[in-house]
Amino acid sequence: MRAVSVTKSLGGNQVLRGASVEVADGEVVGLIGPNGSGKTTLVNVITGLWRPDSGRVKVDGVEVTGMPPERIARLGVRRTFQVPRLFRRLTALQNAAFPLIAEGAPDAYERAKEVLEELGFRELDAKPEELDLPRRRLIEVARAVAAGPRLLVIDELLAGLTDGECEAYVSSLMGLRRDLGFSVLWVEHVVRWLFRAADRVAVMNEGSVVAEGAPEEVRASPVVSRIYFGA
Ligand SMILES: Nc1ncnc2c1ncn2[C@@H]1O[C@H](COP(=O)(O)OP(=O)(O)OP(=O)(O)O)[C@@H](O)[C@H]1O
Ligand SMILES: [Mg+2]
Repeated sequence: MRAVSVTKSLGGNQVLRGASVEVADGEVVGLIGPNGSGKTTLVNVITGLWRPDSGRVKVDGVEVTGMPPERIARLGVRRTFQVPRLFRRLTALQNAAFPLIAEGAPDAYERAKEVLEELGFRELDAKPEELDLPRRRLIEVARAVAAGPRLLVIDELLAGLTDGECEAYVSSLMGLRRDLGFSVLWVEHVVRWLFRAADRVAVMNEGSVVAEGAPEEVRASPVVSRIYFGA
């Protein structure tokens, strides 16, 4: 996936100002940046929720700019939402299986159950309102992974979890990635764990990607210290 020079204004704000990011096959790319820097908006452009004002997005060489989200999803770009969008009346398992059921996959429930269990999720029959935010986010991850993505896009997963839970989530997710072979674009504020999972990290500030590199390079970058700490 490659997003090049994306611009987007929303409600009179120029939210994206030439943002570019690339995820190679099999790669895990972390996307960090302060609140309001445009991470979710960039994800929304990549997944087709927003049409960019300019710039383009390609998936496996196919131009997807301006395609509706369902078509981009069918090309293998599956995402989670910062505020989970689950069906209130469906159970965790039914929510996770939903895209597969919609496609008529005969083994929809088995596949969704396998992924949920792999992620350490046990409350298969719980409704979303009975679960805390991290568990609801995990259902969305399972839903995206069960659909068999080429690119999994995560918009925040680890906030509010203990260190032990972060470790468990990260290692089971990376295990699934290895087994199923998808790549990941991962927006996350809990950078300590993101840096362990990511092959590369891109840093957004004020609507564009201002630094990128291996996690240890980004951690040491003066640009990044300035953005986060004003130093
Ligand atoms: N629909 C909208 N209308 C107007 N402004 C918007 C809209 N959506 C986002 N914005 C503004 O765009 C900027 C970037 O928002 P975005 O949600 O992409 O940031 P973010 O990097 O994901 O932040 P966070 O880390 O808090 O999730 C913010 O200033 C936000 O207020
Ligand atoms: Mg966001």
